[in-house]
Amino acid sequence: MKRSSLSFNGKVAIVTGSSMGIGKAVSIELCRCGASVVINGRNAEKLNATKNELESMGFDLIACPADVTNYNECEMLVQAAIAKYKKLDILVTCAGVAGRASFETLSPYHFKTIVDSNIYGTVFPARAALPFLKESKGSLVFISSLAGMMGIPYYTAYCSGKMSLTALYQCLRGELKNTGIHTGIVYVGFTKNEEGKQFISADGNLVPVPPRNERLQQPRGKVARSIVNLIKRRKSKMILSPIGKINALLIRYFPILVRTIIERASVKS
Ligand SMILES: NC(=O)c1ccc[n+]([C@@H]2O[C@H](COP(=O)([O-])OP(=O)(O)OC[C@H]3O[C@@H](n4cnc5c(N)ncnc54)[C@H](OP(=O)(O)O)[C@@H]3O)[C@@H](O)[C@H]2O)c1
Repeated sequence: MKRSSLSFNGKVAIVTGSSMGIGKAVSIELCRCGASVVINGRNAEKLNATKNELESMGFDLIACPADVTNYNECEMLVQAAIAKYKKLDILVTCAGVAGRASFETLSPYHFKTIVDSNIYGTVFPARAALPFLKESKGSLVFISSLAGMMGIPYYTAYCSGKMSLTALYQCLRGELKNTGIHTGIVYVGFTKNEEGKQFISADGNLVPVPPRNERLQQPRGKVARSIVNLIKRRKSKMILSPIGKINALLIRYFPILVRTIIERASVKS
């Protein structure tokens, strides 16, 4: 496997939610740049299959099954990195589930599941990793979404979770500024989903994500390269995809227009 530039040679990264999708693509990109990576997900079988696939590409990694909404499991995840590699330089918090349903039909329990996976699924690994990132003056990067920039009808829980990441990132950026830790947040746009991606429906069942307009989706590899570039350059904020960039500009200067467009385009669930 061809390595891109080995700018992360000797670095150790944890990528949460990396048995598939964007997290897996980020792990591959970090490995290509020379990092040793700890991949993560809840389903050990799926995670192990990804580990085997990446090992067959010649990469150095370990897999640690853990639910990032459980703080003890996040400590285990960080300890797995320390036990194997003795340090931690990068944490990318990619794990997070989405759901589409009206606020009225989504049960409070499933609302909480979606919010927890996006908020505590970021807070807990970040808190567990903090002492080690301080030691390495490493990078702490949160994966948000365009849904974290403006509320979208029928995505109440997901938008609430992703918007909270902005608050978390802004607070931590100030709080950690004298520690040498780089903090970053990436607002990811529509990305080509991996086959088998599911999200939570109104009744709480996991259902396949409906097909989306191909032209509006970015390839996962491209998204991963952008995320890794943010880490390389220690940049603080990145908005991905042409739609995302236009959206950010319109939200700043014409927020009412954006709200009207989003509300008209939203189809009742
Ligand atoms: N796809 C998009 O278009 C898009 C757009 C904007 C933002 N994003 C964000 O990008 C991130 C990745 O999205 P994706 O589409 O690549 O997701 P995905 O394909 O559904 O993969 C999600 C990954 O996270 C793991 N995961 C989920 N909950 C977890 C938990 N509680 N603890 C540990 N691992 C967990 C899953 O494995 P297990 O199920 O085995 O745990 C899987 O490896 C998410 O934060 C998402 O909100 C995605």
